[in-house]
Amino acid sequence: MRETAVAGGTLPPLPVIGQGTWGMGERPERRRQEVEALRRGFALGMRVVDTAEVYGAGGAEEVVGEAVRDCRDQVFLVTKVWPSHAAPDAVFAAVRASLRRLGTGWVDAVLLHWPTDAVPLEATLWAFERLVREGLARHVGVSNFTPARLGRALALGGVPPLALHEVRYGLDERRAERALIPEAAAHGRLILAYSPLAHGRLRRHRGFPALARVAARRGVSPERVALAWSVARPGVVAIPKAVDPAHVDDNAAAADLELTPEERAELEAAFPVRPGAGPPGLPPAGWLHRLAWAYMEARYGRREGGPASR
Ligand SMILES: NC(=O)c1ccc[n+]([C@@H]2O[C@H](COP(=O)([O-])OP(=O)(O)OC[C@H]3O[C@@H](n4cnc5c(N)ncnc54)[C@H](OP(=O)(O)O)[C@@H]3O)[C@@H](O)[C@H]2O)c1
Repeated sequence: MRETAVAGGTLPPLPVIGQGTWGMGERPERRRQEVEALRRGFALGMRVVDTAEVYGAGGAEEVVGEAVRDCRDQVFLVTKVWPSHAAPDAVFAAVRASLRRLGTGWVDAVLLHWPTDAVPLEATLWAFERLVREGLARHVGVSNFTPARLGRALALGGVPPLALHEVRYGLDERRAERALIPEAAAHGRLILAYSPLAHGRLRRHRGFPALARVAARRGVSPERVALAWSVARPGVVAIPKAVDPAHVDDNAAAADLELTPEERAELEAAFPVRPGAGPPGLPPAGWLHRLAWAYMEARYGRREGGPASR
């Protein structure tokens, strides 16, 4: 599979398409299919996997753990700490619990899932540095930081550097192009593009007819074209989530679909960049984000002990 390398960064070259896990580990009857989907993806080269302590209240990490049991060394494993665990002791407790669920002694990257004003970022980064020193994580990063917040984080001059930034990026949400992606490329930071298929809602977008036209001319699915578009810029790895084996195959094939400048222009005209620096930062950008945030906090973040205690 095609790889992307970030010049000047600390990460190894990584395949441009990885795998997401939000929604996995929630229903025992689906676990086998989820594990098999991830393993199918690894075999096709999608060996970056993104998970988080909150997904399935730890269940997604257990699914990932099962999937990587005999191939841990070949997979670049990313997990995320929920902001209610951003204080140093809580970071350590959360990551140790994640490692137990993942069945591994280290992760390739730990990210702060969302920014928080409850704990100074210096404190979280201090803990992240120790995670790396103690060999629990190879790299660290953040997720959902606005350009302004990222700028403040970088001004702290942390060691190790923030090697990854996971942000919402796809045809329907292109605001990361304005500042986050160019800035990441200039500083050797990888962009992990999440929800690159609009969480399965791409077909409802106003621009979808143009996407469908490009896909029909190529004889491939619209989703494959959308993913190929999302990883056309250097230093971007997309992490679609797929459980259906046909979707897994389709997503892997997107890595080798090269769009022409004319095709990209046609798509970009149909999916214009929305106003603002985005995405999405704090306070959450719209009612959907606010609802998702409230749900995640209520279900996982503030629960006694949280997922870290599992
Ligand atoms: N850092 C953050 O705050 C954050 C937030 C959201 C997501 N993420 C990460 O990003 C990952 C991906 O985002 P997402 O799960 O929100 O949504 P997504 O990857 O944009 O979309 C997933 C949906 O698309 C379907 N799908 C996948 N491949 C397809 C294909 N080739 N053709 C048609 N349908 C396809 C999946 O169906 P099936 O599953 O049935 O195959 C699923 O319903 C997450 O799983 C998570 O790891 C991170």
